[in-house]
Amino acid sequence: MWTACSLAVLTGLALVAHAAAQSGTDALSPSASSADFSTPIVKGSGSTAASELTRAALTNASATGNAQMSLTYDSVGSGQGQKNLLQNAYDYAISDVPLSEAVYNSSAKDLFQIPFAINSVTIVYNISGIPSGALRLDRPTLAAIYSCDITLWNDPIIAGLNPGLALPTRPITVVVRTDASGTTQQVTEYLAADANTWTLGSGKTIGWPKCVVTVQGSEGVVSYVSANTLSIGYVEYGQARKGGVSVAALKNNAGAFVTPWQANITRMANDLVLPPSAASAQWEHVNFLSLVGAYVYPICGLEFIMLNINQTSKGYMASTIMKEFTLYLLSDAVQYCMQNYGYTAIPLRLCRLARGAARTIVVAPRPPDADAISLPSSFINVYIAPPPGTAPGAAPGAAPGAASSGAPALASAPTSSQPKPGMPNPNLPLVDHLAGSPLVVPGNGVIAAAGRRLLDTWSEWAEQF
Ligand SMILES: *[C@@H]1O[C@H](CO)[C@@H](O)[C@H](O)[C@H]1NC(C)=O
Ligand SMILES: *[C@@H]1O[C@H](CO)[C@@H](O)[C@H](O)[C@H]1NC(C)=O
Ligand SMILES: *[C@@H]1O[C@H](CO)[C@@H](O)[C@H](O)[C@H]1NC(C)=O
Ligand SMILES: *[C@@H]1O[C@H](CO)[C@@H](O)[C@H](O)[C@H]1NC(C)=O
Ligand SMILES: *[C@@H]1O[C@H](CO)[C@@H](O)[C@H](O)[C@H]1NC(C)=O
Repeated sequence: MWTACSLAVLTGLALVAHAAAQSGTDALSPSASSADFSTPIVKGSGSTAASELTRAALTNASATGNAQMSLTYDSVGSGQGQKNLLQNAYDYAISDVPLSEAVYNSSAKDLFQIPFAINSVTIVYNISGIPSGALRLDRPTLAAIYSCDITLWNDPIIAGLNPGLALPTRPITVVVRTDASGTTQQVTEYLAADANTWTLGSGKTIGWPKCVVTVQGSEGVVSYVSANTLSIGYVEYGQARKGGVSVAALKNNAGAFVTPWQANITRMANDLVLPPSAASAQWEHVNFLSLVGAYVYPICGLEFIMLNINQTSKGYMASTIMKEFTLYLLSDAVQYCMQNYGYTAIPLRLCRLARGAARTIVVAPRPPDADAISLPSSFINVYIAPPPGTAPGAAPGAAPGAASSGAPALASAPTSSQPKPGMPNPNLPLVDHLAGSPLVVPGNGVIAAAGRRLLDTWSEWAEQF
């Protein structure tokens, strides 16, 4: 396993960057009495678009943990991330798209594909004098631009959709990804849904026509479009906001032109037809493209964490950390701040399925000598609100380390139970939160009296779906 892993890194995976473990002040230093107690390294790789969200979550998970640990994430693209997991080189993958049914079936292992967020892909452009949100495009027009059939910004078809805009009589520079990208797959699936206007197929990479410029990673698309007027590209919403590039409004099935921040994305996701479990090849067929409604944004997808159901071979600490990190991604703490990263929280119906799966990840048994060295029984402090109607305080999935023998106390919790003044309205989907000041979630990830009410709010809000 370590050979394969080192090999993967040495053979030039792009943009390798580790988010180093943050050992909090309450970090335990287990004087290793057996190999199982040495600092475990839990390695992940995948989506470049989701790297900021993933790294923030694992930094927070490390900071709210009570053991030394090292969670890492390599931003290599969804396609390479899936390969790294299937080749056993990494413990988990983060992917913008599910495995294809054929790949899932042919995998030798039992895999979970656990959705934890909703992503949306934006069409970004740089035309001086045309602000973000002003340019309107529809699927046939985008297909013609990406097929190199429409080559000028003031083409009558583009002008027809944008009667009020002064479009330049200049060539369009079309930007695509070189690496195997889940975002490319999402955009080409959107285009391919109309076979009359798109003939180039769909996938993480496709044979693009000659007119395109190719760049590496979501970051590459954003830097290219920010540096070049007259360019157009595609990138996940959070990356577009972070890079300050302009975002086009896309025509949806109901005939409305919408940007992701005008859509009710959680409501859309609630209308999805779901597979029976996270251990299914059928996630490939979960389809946002057929959803109809004025509130629908046309290019959305589920963001997945993928991992082996049975983590036993990794040993007690690493397997437990892997399971707790998965639950952490689904916790109210992370779901509540999704919008800050350009993602949308999943509706509770989907979250129940995901949390149910995460709770059944198989971990190695606690070694007999664990108590002797006061090894905690949990490593990441996961707060998940109890289902409505259950007694407060009995948070299922919460990992209060204090219950285990000799575990250090959690980070000290504020004692006030008052809701914070100025608490943000949790009904987030219609607002472009990234354009305003970011939400602040006090005591994020920590079971704190003051934080609990705030964190509860996400589950209460999501309950309506
Ligand atoms: C991580 O914690 C910071 C500080 O509390 C918070 O602002 C941020 O939203 C958190 N992000 C995630 C993904 O948990
Ligand atoms: C995957 O496996 C399922 C169950 O065995 C089967 O019904 C399905 O046809 C397979 N799909 C592919 C693409 O191999
Ligand atoms: C458009 O490109 C120019 C460079 O040609 C750059 O200065 C500008 O910031 C870009 N605008 C946007 C909104 O990305
Ligand atoms: C989104 O849709 C849900 C379900 O219909 C609805 O309850 C909620 O109010 C909508 N949110 C906004 C901001 O319109
Ligand atoms: C998990 O894998 C281990 C081998 O690593 C095996 O002994 C155990 O039976 C498996 N557990 C389940 C529930 O599949």
